[in-house]
Amino acid sequence: MKTIDELLDEGVAGKRVFVRADLNVPLDGTTITDDGRIRAVLPTVARLAEAGARVIVASHLGRPKGAPDPAFSLAPAAARLGELLGADVAFATDTVGDPAKAVVAGLGDGQVAVIENLRFNAGETSKDDAERGTFADRLAGLADLYVGDGFGAVHRKHASVFDLPARLPHAAGGLIATEVGVLKKLTEDVKRPYAVVLGGAKVSDKLGVIDHLLEKADRILIGGGMAYTFLKAQGHEVGASLLQEDQIPAVQEYLKRAGERGVEFVLPVDVLVAPSFPDLKTKAPANPETVTVDVIPADAMGLDNGPETNRLYASKLADAATVFWNGPMGVFEHPDYAEGTRAVAQALIDSDAFTVVGGGDSAAAVRILGFDENAFGHISTGGGASLEYLEGKTLPGLAALED
Ligand code: 3PG
Repeated sequence: MKTIDELLDEGVAGKRVFVRADLNVPLDGTTITDDGRIRAVLPTVARLAEAGARVIVASHLGRPKGAPDPAFSLAPAAARLGELLGADVAFATDTVGDPAKAVVAGLGDGQVAVIENLRFNAGETSKDDAERGTFADRLAGLADLYVGDGFGAVHRKHASVFDLPARLPHAAGGLIATEVGVLKKLTEDVKRPYAVVLGGAKVSDKLGVIDHLLEKADRILIGGGMAYTFLKAQGHEVGASLLQEDQIPAVQEYLKRAGERGVEFVLPVDVLVAPSFPDLKTKAPANPETVTVDVIPADAMGLDNGPETNRLYASKLADAATVFWNGPMGVFEHPDYAEGTRAVAQALIDSDAFTVVGGGDSAAAVRILGFDENAFGHISTGGGASLEYLEGKTLPGLAALED
């Protein structure tokens, strides 16, 4: 994989360089609530610009349906990139049409532009190779060189991630190099005990990684909405909590295999429950009740780990040598349900382990909860991407940069 250092050594002055970034940041209207992904790609953009390249930054944002949708515009991300760079960043209101061509043609050496959300064009995410290829051809027409640095999207076989690098001389950006270097430490010669904390809403999103981690990890701690499917699989009633009934057999199989392999599975022992999901807009007090997991009321839903679970999880992380964490422990966006996620973040900070926070939601959570990013070993910009890497899958966006 060619690195950006090699590309810079060869010289990029006056060249149009297409940087595939992941600027898929959380938005509240047009306000960015966590700009971590923009800051993560900043060094790549800045180094190219300083070297005199004409930098075209491209990304997806959200999941628009293959047509322009103002709710998913990259304009706020472009403005933030300009603030962080301390330079004017031009913004093209489309991806490959006349506005984008005009913006790119207007770039001087060392200047930066952002083009609109790639997913406003159906060719970006198409399953049809020819349709993706046609879009990739048009993107290739904008640039001379390609730098892949959207780590959060490398698990997607999308035109700008997979097909475009085949059409232009390419290199991996600094963010991708860092992310892959860190994830290698979680897959090769892992320092033990290796503890993994998995949260988030759905078990089905995590099946592949759990399957793989049963061969690698020493301890797996489960939280978030997915914990209730595990609790149900163990025979507990979970009331109105999130439940993926169809995943119970798979979960039971994992619990059995974990027992056979000596992998410790740790589940919540108490949770915070309430009759309904909290209002995340008003953040009105939710007045949750703490219950042990064997008495979750039929009409209540579990929304965060309880204090006993928080202590238990901290103790299971205290002596770990390596920790990977993906997914919040509860509805951390509401102050009444942030403690479980906060407790795991604090346990990572307190341990001497090499700690990796993987992914969109958990990465955003530690920043939104006010933790110092530098207190963690690494905060990944990729949620699905880091999970699929840990599953041992070939990631299209990395494979495309190999040759
Ligand atoms: C992410 O948020 O994990 C990445 O930006 C990828 O987004 P996607 O899941 O919509 O492809």
